[in-house]
Amino acid sequence: MRRYRLERPVTWVALAGFMGTGKSRIGWELSRRLGLNFIDTDRVIERVSCLRIPDLFELYGEAVFRDYETEVVRRSLRLDDVVVSTGGGTVMRAENRELLLSRGPVVLLSASPETIYKRTRRHKRPLLEIGNPVERITELMGARQGAYDAAASVRVSTDGRYSADVVEEIVEKLWEWREGAEEGVA
Ligand code: S3P
Repeated sequence: MRRYRLERPVTWVALAGFMGTGKSRIGWELSRRLGLNFIDTDRVIERVSCLRIPDLFELYGEAVFRDYETEVVRRSLRLDDVVVSTGGGTVMRAENRELLLSRGPVVLLSASPETIYKRTRRHKRPLLEIGNPVERITELMGARQGAYDAAASVRVSTDGRYSADVVEEIVEKLWEWREGAEEGVA
């Protein structure tokens, strides 16, 4: 019997970026496009803690949530054939960045503060509930930029674009990343 193997640039890839940049939606669509499984670290944390993230923040505080996050990142490295969508703050911890980058490429998604506000306003995000939301997003994004830059193997903007186009750009850039990685080894 002839077996057809799907040509894909990677079999493990993580998505990172600020809240509302589309990590979950794009991650899911990318997984369909590449024929990979999909996990979202926030959803895994909710399942294992039996709490919604806002409740986890309220009951146990951010530090407990961040420890859950590192544990889920660590476990995601053992998976094969998967797209891993992380939370907006996951790559703030150097340990998480190192873990993810040791396993495969990290795709950094970006969008403007206005777009992010529109995408997040209907869903509870504990870290955005203080003060003017667009100002808060701009401030938090600025404070986090260095960590996002340090995590990015590949960068793609999702601002005002169809998800299918974003996915195609990610796939193209992952091929380039792979060629670069192979040259680096050779
Ligand atoms: C957070 C982002 C959220 C979630 C938590 C903290 C952050 O994930 O992990 O509310 O620190 O930016 P999304 O980026 O999926 O909204």
